[in-house]
Parts: sequence; C-alpha cells; structure tokens
Amino acid sequence: MKICIFGAGYVGLVAAACFAESGNTVIAVDIDETKIEGLKQGIIPIYEPGLKEMVLRNQSEGRLSFTTDSTAAIQASLVSFIAVGTPPGEDGSADLKYVLGVAREIGRAMTGFKIIVDKSTVPVGTADKVRDAIQHELALRGVDYEFDVVSNPEFLKEGAAIDDFMKPDRVVIGTDNVRTAELMKELYDPFMRKQNRMIVMDIRSAEMTKYAANAMLATRISFMNQIANLCERMGADVAAVREGIGSDSRIGYDFLFPGPGYGGSCFPKDVKALIRTAEECDYDFLLLKAVEDVNERQKEVLADKLIRELGSPDEEQPLTGRIIACWGLAFKPRTDDMREAPAITIIERLLAAGATVRVHDPEALKEAKKVFGERIEYSSSQYAILDGADALAIITDWNEYRNPDFDRIKGALKSPTIIDGRNLYKPQRMAAAGFRYIPLGRCGGGICEVK
Ligand SMILES: NC(=O)c1ccc[n+]([C@@H]2O[C@H](COP(=O)([O-])OP(=O)(O)OC[C@H]3O[C@@H](n4cnc5c(N)ncnc54)[C@H](O)[C@@H]3O)[C@@H](O)[C@H]2O)c1
Repeated sequence: MKICIFGAGYVGLVAAACFAESGNTVIAVDIDETKIEGLKQGIIPIYEPGLKEMVLRNQSEGRLSFTTDSTAAIQASLVSFIAVGTPPGEDGSADLKYVLGVAREIGRAMTGFKIIVDKSTVPVGTADKVRDAIQHELALRGVDYEFDVVSNPEFLKEGAAIDDFMKPDRVVIGTDNVRTAELMKELYDPFMRKQNRMIVMDIRSAEMTKYAANAMLATRISFMNQIANLCERMGADVAAVREGIGSDSRIGYDFLFPGPGYGGSCFPKDVKALIRTAEECDYDFLLLKAVEDVNERQKEVLADKLIRELGSPDEEQPLTGRIIACWGLAFKPRTDDMREAPAITIIERLLAAGATVRVHDPEALKEAKKVFGERIEYSSSQYAILDGADALAIITDWNEYRNPDFDRIKGALKSPTIIDGRNLYKPQRMAAAGFRYIPLGRCGGGICEVK
C-alpha cells in the first residue's frame, strides 16, 4: 500500500519504518528541514532501540523515503497518517494546531479518494474537526473528492516502540465505514499474524480509548506512589505490598513500582487534556485532578530526601557546598526523551538548594544540555561523576544501574549515601555493605528510619 506519514517524531518515524518493513511504500513528511535532511543521510534524530537499523534497511531498499514536500507525498499515497505533536495548550487542552494544519494541507493537495488516519493523541471530536478542515479546503478549491477520516490511536512505549508496533497488544480503529475498516485491517494484518488483535469501534470511542488508557496508567502510578509514601511512614515495605496485591489477577504486577513521578510526552499532557475535556462538558474529573496533583508532589520526594539527609536546615540554600551525583535523566530507560522528565524538577530543586549537580545518562545527555546548559556537569561515565560527591541519587532505572560496582561507588563517594528513586537494590544488602541507602517506601523491618 502507498502511505505517507506526517510527523517524523517518536511515533511517526517508528510507524513509517514498521509499515515499510512490512512491504508498504512509505513517505515520511516533516516540516523540520534539518530533521528530513538528516534522515535522508541516515541520521536518526531520536534514540529508539532497533529503529536506526530498520530505517536504514528500508531506505536502502527503496520502501521508505523522507520529504518536506507534503503535496507530492499526499498525491502519491492512498492513506495519510497524521502523527504530529499535540502539546498542551495554555489551558491544558490538547493543542490541535499541528493536526489541523496537516488536515488543511491534505485538503489543499488531494486529487482523488484518500483515507486520513489520526494517529496523534487527540480529544474526542477531533476527527470531525479534521473532516471539516479538509472539506473547507476542498470547497475553497471548488472540488469534491471523497475521503474518510479514521481514528487509530498509537499505544507504543518509547524504549520498546519497534516491538510494540510490530507485535501490538491491540490496534484500535475508529471508523464507521466497513470498506475503510477492511483496508486498515489489510495494512495491520502483517503485525497480527498469530491472532487478530484489531478492535474496530466508532470514532469517538477510539479517540477516548487512548486517553482512558493513559489516564488509567497514570492513576496506577500515582496510587502506588502514595502507597509507597505511606509504607515509609508506617514501617511497611512497598516491595512486599506490591507482590501481595499484584498476585491478585484483577490487579496484576505491571505499573506498580513506586518512583519519582511519571513524565514523558504522553501521561502528563494526556491527563491534563482529559481533565480539560471533562471540564468542557461540565464534568469535574476529580480523580484525575488528584492523580496529577499527587504526581507533582511525587517529583519533589527525592529532593526532599536529599535535603533532609544532607542539608543544613537553617539555610536558605541548604545544599550549599554539597555535590549530588545523579544517575538517569530520561523520563524512563531506553529513550533519550526528557519531555516532562521528573529529573528536571529534581535537579532544578537541587540547584535552587545550592547543590552542585553532576549527571550521567546513557542516552539523554544531549537533551539534558538543552534543558540545563552549563548549570550542571555532564559525564558519559556513570562512575566518574561519583568522585567526591556527597550522595548518589538514582532517578531513571537504566539497566546499567541495576548491578553496579558497589565497592567502586563506596570508594568514590565522600559519604556512602544513595537515594534510590527506583528501588533498584536490596536494603539489607546495602546496609550490610555500609551504605546509607534510602529507597522509596521500604522502611519495613526498621531498614531505614522515617524522619
Ligand atoms: N511519544 C510517544 O511515546 C507517543 C505514544 C503514543 C502516542 N503519542 C502521540 O503521538 C503524537 C506524536 O507524538 P511524538 O512523540 O511522535 O511527537 P514528536 O514531537 O516526537 O514528533 C512530531 C513531529 O511532527 C512534526 N510536524 C509538526 N507539524 C507538522 C506538519 N504540518 N507536517 C509534518 N510534520 C509536522 C514535527 O516537526 C515533529 O518532528 C502526539 O499526539 C502524542 O501524544 C506519542
């Protein structure tokens, strides 16, 4: 099938590579000329495991190409995917300017029947707006071509995006057109050969499904973070509690690890947008407001612990003279994405408290430099930043932090203090090794005292 994908970002580029991988002819369109020039030369603008190899292979075999020429791409394709950003507007609602901008481009360029697929995360009712925008442009041109707008929200996870796309848990298709549903099925068939995982529904329900999924996951995270904070105060161990509740098949084990709060390009903005959508219908989504509030507070927990541990309470900048080494900056492992990463809030707070901050991340240093500039010290060695530091704070659970050389850490730190925002280590083992180890919600059995 001939398809074009608007937006060569985390979603669009992955979708483009995966559709090309299954034999389609794919044109990826972006307005960012530098990005497209780079892609033409094989430079992948983001880090996503397996993506580079797949892009290069399909590019060299002629199935995947990159352009800024939207007109040519639209005219050459039967299906146009919209995978551009939907950032939060000032009031928290999803800003549809990029999505509707693409819709207008399609209306201006199309010369025959087209299927337009919304892959961006968009509020309920957006497909109608896309349809209206295209229709408006067609009317201005005085032409009347048939087209169909489909909702196909994307559920991939950064860091595992290729796998998620190639082996999806489900593909949600929102359409009221049987012929279009069949065509979408044809396009997605190669990704579900063992079992059909396509769920076809009406467009509004498909749009809502994406928000409901992200809101549910964000709720689980905030819930578990509060359970962890309570465990800490009650002398319970959240790791044991997680096992205890996860074993219930109605609950399950996923998304029950406490941490420094959710971040990334999706959960924060999608939670905000759903709250805003509810407000527009005069509905107060109390639960989600609390989820968001809890998350904002959770981003402060690591810095609070560091200040309690190392700070001089009377000073305005209680961490003056202290050096804090941070492991992990990306909002989760296996990505370089720092959008709304808890690390940003944590590090800003440490800087405001007077600390010197040194950071390591396997992939996100370049992104971090855009955020912090010269205000912090960067290293591509996870151990080099420890020399003479007062504490190590673990923010992102990259694999390389799971089994580190503890002797080396202890030898390098000024005082062997680790504040672990991801609960990577066994508290008893750390205590036995002489560390002052402060995880989240694991004070059961007197392992760490609560202050
Ligand atoms: N990142 C994720 O993990 C993820 C997962 C599921 C869904 N989503 C959703 O998918 C959408 C895209 O997210 P992303 O993370 O890929 O965004 P992104 O910011 O990485 O990429 C968006 C791209 O769209 C381009 N763009 C903007 N206007 C354009 C236009 N008129 N024509 C062509 N290109 C244009 C931008 O230059 C940019 O390269 C969002 O709605 C997001 O919520 C993201």
